[in-house]
Amino acid sequence: MDTISSSFALNPHNSLFSTFSPLKKLIPHTKKLTLKNPFITSSQKRPLLATFFKSIDDFVCTFLDPPLRPSIDPKHVLSGNFAPVDELPPTACDVVEGSLPPCLHGGAYIRNGPNPHFVPRGPHHLFDGDGMLHVITFTSPDGPIFCSRYIKTYKYTVEQKTGHPIFPSVFSSFNRLAASISRGLIIFARVLTRQFDPVANGFGLANINVALIGGRLFALGESDLPYAMKVTPGGDVITLGRHDFFSDKPFLNMNMTAHPKMDPQTGEAFSFRYHVIPPLLTIFKIDANGKKQPDVPIFSMKSTSLSHDFALTRNYVIIPDMQIVMDFTEVVKGRSPARVDLDKVPRVGVIPRYAEDESELVWIEARGLNVVHCTNAWEEDDGETVVMVVSNPSSIEQALEGLDLACPKMEKIIINVKDKTLHRHLLSDEVLDMGIINPTYSGRKCR
Ligand SMILES: [Fe+2]
Repeated sequence: MDTISSSFALNPHNSLFSTFSPLKKLIPHTKKLTLKNPFITSSQKRPLLATFFKSIDDFVCTFLDPPLRPSIDPKHVLSGNFAPVDELPPTACDVVEGSLPPCLHGGAYIRNGPNPHFVPRGPHHLFDGDGMLHVITFTSPDGPIFCSRYIKTYKYTVEQKTGHPIFPSVFSSFNRLAASISRGLIIFARVLTRQFDPVANGFGLANINVALIGGRLFALGESDLPYAMKVTPGGDVITLGRHDFFSDKPFLNMNMTAHPKMDPQTGEAFSFRYHVIPPLLTIFKIDANGKKQPDVPIFSMKSTSLSHDFALTRNYVIIPDMQIVMDFTEVVKGRSPARVDLDKVPRVGVIPRYAEDESELVWIEARGLNVVHCTNAWEEDDGETVVMVVSNPSSIEQALEGLDLACPKMEKIIINVKDKTLHRHLLSDEVLDMGIINPTYSGRKCR
């Protein structure tokens, strides 16, 4: 999962820029902001039940939580550049250096990332923050406009009304047995008393990425469905709502990767979701009109791999099977079900992109390879060879608990589809991640 948001440039009228060159330093006008705080009113009207649950939350944080380790200590996690920021309404920017390329006119630069709506009382992981879009719009003849808005997810909306955080986190809620059991009981009671309904409405943060699918802008987080967003010509950011690509499965809580892959030639988007009940992996396609196509369930995935990203080429979808897994036996030990399984041999699955089932799927073991992000992939040798450029943590065991120690590095992965062999080549010894390319080269060879 991203620790800093992904970003790309787009036209608010839904056409992509081919390139984006930030040649200017932009600063918002120093206008004093007086943002309305809706929580004061909500808190004053807080129902008795919500107050009761909050008092139990406070008790758990005060008396049952052991001292917080750095990865879930908000004083550490939210320090420095990761400190939360307020929303900012559309605000004109001054150009202080350089000049804007004319080709940017009519477009926007968008970033997504975690930004907690409330200062957490107890454990908080970097991945737990509510999604916020930061947008620079280049539509006004008077200059760029900067705007930051929370993505109004179901979680955000419920907690705004309640006045404090109530949703659990898979990364930080499990903090030794006593605190974990207590939090589990509070969650159960809240769901039972309709404080919130994660089954019907999801619990995602939409805090990882943004993507254009079928010509529409979405904010994504892999624990939930995407949220449809809109950037207005005036530079404001509006949440249109949780978008259910899976209306054919109304009884299952669906999710999808935050890193779908768009084919610039066909307009199709390819995606996948992992789940905790079989099939543990499902691949699917969304056509150029935004209509989801039938699932391709992958039953040969033997454990829930928290695969975060994948690759798309002209003919193949390539899915990593990582050592980061979901293991619910950890919960009874008071630990997060998301853990690193060092005994598992990671694999890479290669399947034709238009496959209707997994009969042509090829799994290739790849010791030491946990693809976190895939910058691009393409084919060579008439499709016999697949080349991927990916980031791979040097220390996968740190991927959840010590992000600054995971040290991802860029590798070129060469897969011979016919021989089912895989070779890794380190591209740089620098710590690098989340590489971005010109999206018109997505799935095609790039430099
Ligand atoms: Fe990511």
